[in-house]
Amino acid sequence: MKLLTATLLAVSCLLPLQQANAKPIEIKFSHVVAENTPKGQMALKFKELAEARLPGKVDVKVYPNSQLFTDATVLQALQLGDVEIAAPALSKFQKYNPALQVFDLPFLFKDMDAVDRFQHSPQGVALLSSMNDKLLVGLGYLHNGMKQLSSNDPIRVPADIAGKKFRIMTSDVLQAQYEAVHAIPLKKPFAEVFTLLQTRAIDGQESPWSNTYASKFFEVQKYVTETDHGVLDYLVVTSAEFWFGLPEDLRDTLKQCMDEAIAYGNQIAAKQDLADRQSILDSGKTQILTLNPGERQQWIDAMKPVWKMFEDQIGSDLLDAAIQSNH
Ligand code: SIN
Repeated sequence: MKLLTATLLAVSCLLPLQQANAKPIEIKFSHVVAENTPKGQMALKFKELAEARLPGKVDVKVYPNSQLFTDATVLQALQLGDVEIAAPALSKFQKYNPALQVFDLPFLFKDMDAVDRFQHSPQGVALLSSMNDKLLVGLGYLHNGMKQLSSNDPIRVPADIAGKKFRIMTSDVLQAQYEAVHAIPLKKPFAEVFTLLQTRAIDGQESPWSNTYASKFFEVQKYVTETDHGVLDYLVVTSAEFWFGLPEDLRDTLKQCMDEAIAYGNQIAAKQDLADRQSILDSGKTQILTLNPGERQQWIDAMKPVWKMFEDQIGSDLLDAAIQSNH
């Protein structure tokens, strides 16, 4: 908190200078996925709204596809003031707040409505500001979708994945999830996934349909197993130094633009999930495997023990609130 207070004090001394300067405030928005994804579209909508409502006052520059920072470096870049907005997957915040690992637990949320209910619960809302003391301010959650497994081999039951290398995000929960089924998880930045798949350095990966489609993973994978075993959502995040250093009226308008852009991105996420699944199917390059209830139950039985391993780090109250969101 001391760091935050000192930063805000320092920033408030700079304000008159900033106001006297007529140049628009540059807002760099860095992300790692393609423009034709829910996050890519949300970022462009934010730019459109912010520049229309604050003409001449802000200049929003969106950098997709890890052009500016990768997911391995963007949060530190935010803290250092090298970028103003990012929207990393929730799995990438574990070292800033381990409680956010709740979103990675396998088979915790039954669908995206349950994820949405949890994010809007008092406990979910409190997580947004839980990293302010680390200079990371959550502006809102953005949906992508439930994750599926893609692979070079047909995967139906946990025994099929044993010994196979799967790329994961930098999450210890995801690592434990794969170890629970005797697979080999590898933590790698998103920007490397296509090449790792193409060169067969790894056997598979997990993503929602939109990422598997937009990043063309399906072109180098023969199968996608429809597991819906976890969620991939985002935290739209800014830096405390930038955000609290803005004049209040400008900050309020930008927050309104962000809320609207997120609502827009969420609508796209819901539609695109099915559309991208269909496009992958239509491509004829990848076969989609669906699980029968008995096969799905095998995955649940194998992976659910991971919850207990992380309960202390996440907190049992938070875990209970997430479980309740399914009802
Ligand atoms: C993203 O959608 O931002 C990337 C997610 C991943 O790293 O798999």
